Amino acid sequence: MSIHIINLSFAYGDNQVLRDINLNVETGEKIGIIGVSGCGKSTLLKLLAGLYSPQNGIVEVHGMCKPENIRKLVSMVMQNTMLFPASIKENITCGHPMSDEVIKQACDAAQLSDWIAALPDKMDTFVGERGGKVSGGQAQRIAIARAIAKDAPVVLLDEATSALDGDTSHAVLSALDNLTRGKTVVSVSHRPEILAGCNRIYRLEGGQLHNA
Ligand SMILES: Nc1ncnc2c1ncn2[C@@H]1O[C@H](COP(=O)(O)OP(=O)(O)O)[C@@H](O)[C@H]1O
Ligand SMILES: [Mg+2]
Repeated sequence: MSIHIINLSFAYGDNQVLRDINLNVETGEKIGIIGVSGCGKSTLLKLLAGLYSPQNGIVEVHGMCKPENIRKLVSMVMQNTMLFPASIKENITCGHPMSDEVIKQACDAAQLSDWIAALPDKMDTFVGERGGKVSGGQAQRIAIARAIAKDAPVVLLDEATSALDGDTSHAVLSALDNLTRGKTVVSVSHRPEILAGCNRIYRLEGGQLHNA
């Protein structure tokens, strides 16, 4: 079992967002989640990513319950990627020791290599707040390369393609294909091409998961 959620509830103050959620996901399964804005999709993913602790119930990822252990097993790609004010390389490694070969393979799989090859400073090109030269799609693919290099068994996608336009989005979709292949995936998305690849789709409503 990859993800095991038992009677999970979560509130922000008086705002009860998740109520008694149960979900089991086998290793390699792909789960789609849809639901209106504000229904709690991102909150659920943050609990699965070990960014929040459950207030009631259990979130278990590959047998681990402590958020600090869960964080090592999960990669998350969100809608609007914030890059660090640092080089492309540092944005991919996040300070973890990694061979150049691993970084190169992640860039290839994230469809970044042609763009990087055309930059004067290549991988050492500065990006982030003052990066300027980086488009939304390129930033998204750097975030995907980061997740590919981490090689965690669970991948969480939070509307990872929704801020992008047609052409860029195609490159991002193929980068996401490379990221998610063989992994356990929970994807919040309304895109038919992402939902089509899911084994199960749920609608989050009233704090609970319903078959969509
Ligand atoms: N950090 C936060 N503090 C307080 N309320 C929050 C916070 N994040 C989200 N919420 C509230 O929790 C509810 C669910 O939000 P969210 O999980 O972001 O929904 P979704 O991703 O489905 O749009 C909303 O009512 C939202 O306003
Ligand atoms: Mg959200």
